[in-house]
Amino acid sequence: MNQFNNKEQYVRNLFNSIAKNYDTMNFVMTWGMLSRWQKFMLEKTGLKEGDYGLDVCCGTGELAFKMAKIVGSSGKVWGLDFSENMLAVAREKKADAQINNVEFIQGDALKLPFEDNTFDGATNGFALRNVTDIGQAIREMARVVKPGGKVVCLEVSRPFNPILRFGFNIYFFKMVPLIGRIVDKGKAIDDKYPAYTWLPESLKTFPDQEQLKKIFEEAGLVDVKYYGLMGGVSSVHVGTKRG
Ligand SMILES: C[S@@+](CC[C@H](N)C(=O)[O-])C[C@H]1O[C@@H](n2cnc3c(N)ncnc32)[C@H](O)[C@@H]1O
Repeated sequence: MNQFNNKEQYVRNLFNSIAKNYDTMNFVMTWGMLSRWQKFMLEKTGLKEGDYGLDVCCGTGELAFKMAKIVGSSGKVWGLDFSENMLAVAREKKADAQINNVEFIQGDALKLPFEDNTFDGATNGFALRNVTDIGQAIREMARVVKPGGKVVCLEVSRPFNPILRFGFNIYFFKMVPLIGRIVDKGKAIDDKYPAYTWLPESLKTFPDQEQLKKIFEEAGLVDVKYYGLMGGVSSVHVGTKRG
């Protein structure tokens, strides 16, 4: 991250620039597995009918919509993101599908605009790599979750098996930027990495599964566990607020 004076602004500009194609690219880059991974992480939240859920860095809202189905009309979900264009896509989908129990708000994951102990569970999908302070993002999620509630994060990770890891490195570090170039022509964001070059770059300095587990624990979460998906190409971390 050394070449960034303002990583936050870069990340926001990046997601503003790719918002329209984001869902398609996400589907392609996760080999159509995303929905299954989201289902898994939502199961880990323990959310149920009537609960309040929060999806931090909600992007175009896919996870928030799935969460909204779980909590039903007697519950409610908030999706928060700082990219206005990602939120615009989320709000458009909400209006099209006439979903009433989700609210999208613009805000900063590092300074959540919610009272302590508000939600029954909170999620974060593929965004921890993008924030400037991972510990602060987790602490904020832990703060706004009620005692006993879960903080659940899904992130790209490096596979455990060396052979799988080798294939993943070729795919993620070589092919993803090439696929991205078809979509955005390799256009630089703020004179820095094009969007789909940033994606693998951001993994280079991201903590591994054990280190991330420690960050959850340092945020005061207990019973922290992680689950590798598809051999560890992505991982779900789960922590519980002491209650
Ligand atoms: C890779 S996208 C993930 C979107 C969605 N969670 C998903 O799973 O598809 C990362 C999102 O994090 C948002 N983001 C990054 N840093 C943020 C911050 N500090 N506060 C709020 N949103 C942030 C970006 O705007 C972007 O929408």
